[in-house]
Amino acid sequence: MKAIIVYVSSYGHVEQMAGKIMQGLEEEGSVVKLTKASDIEAEDLLKYDIVIFGSPVRMGSIEHNLKAFIEKTGGLWLKAALKDRIGGVFVSGGNYNSGVELTQMALYGTLLELGMIMVGFVNDMPGYGHGANQWGPVAKVGLDGSEGPSDETLTACVEYGRRLARVAREIRGQNNIHM
Ligand SMILES: Cc1cc2nc3c(=O)[nH]c(=O)nc-3n(C[C@H](O)[C@H](O)[C@H](O)COP(=O)(O)O)c2cc1C
Repeated sequence: MKAIIVYVSSYGHVEQMAGKIMQGLEEEGSVVKLTKASDIEAEDLLKYDIVIFGSPVRMGSIEHNLKAFIEKTGGLWLKAALKDRIGGVFVSGGNYNSGVELTQMALYGTLLELGMIMVGFVNDMPGYGHGANQWGPVAKVGLDGSEGPSDETLTACVEYGRRLARVAREIRGQNNIHM
């Protein structure tokens, strides 16, 4: 499977999570492109079976550069061009209760609107609880960012990557984008 992780990270926490999700995807045989939202075009998403968005929580929602990138996918939306791709999300917030789930929901909404099949995080997976909720991996980095993603979060990121790759293989096995 081919996977792309599109993220924004001002202080490196989301980037660290992205690296761990990449590790999990690769452990399950996926080929992964890791990219900042500012470095790609919307049409690039067409080349991937798995699309993952990662954002810091900003004022309770998606960071604006990632949102701007997402809005550029309007042309793809018109043609339902990303239908049946596999989607995933991960976020980093200063706290657990200051917009993390709102941001996850906002990201889910965008990928669902693009026709993707969303993959959540299951309660028997390592990292569930402090490192992830049912929607995906979460970091709590402290209000000044000094805490960084916990070991549980980084574990959850690897597990999430593995699950995304496995689910994609099940669902897109015959249909995957050949390299
Ligand atoms: C302008 C601004 C707004 C923020 N708003 C929130 C917020 O509403 N809720 C929250 O939990 N964290 C908030 N944060 C903290 C960020 O989520 C935190 O800096 C981020 O998760 C760190 O990830 P990064 O290192 O990848 O940028 C805010 C940070 C900034 C700079």
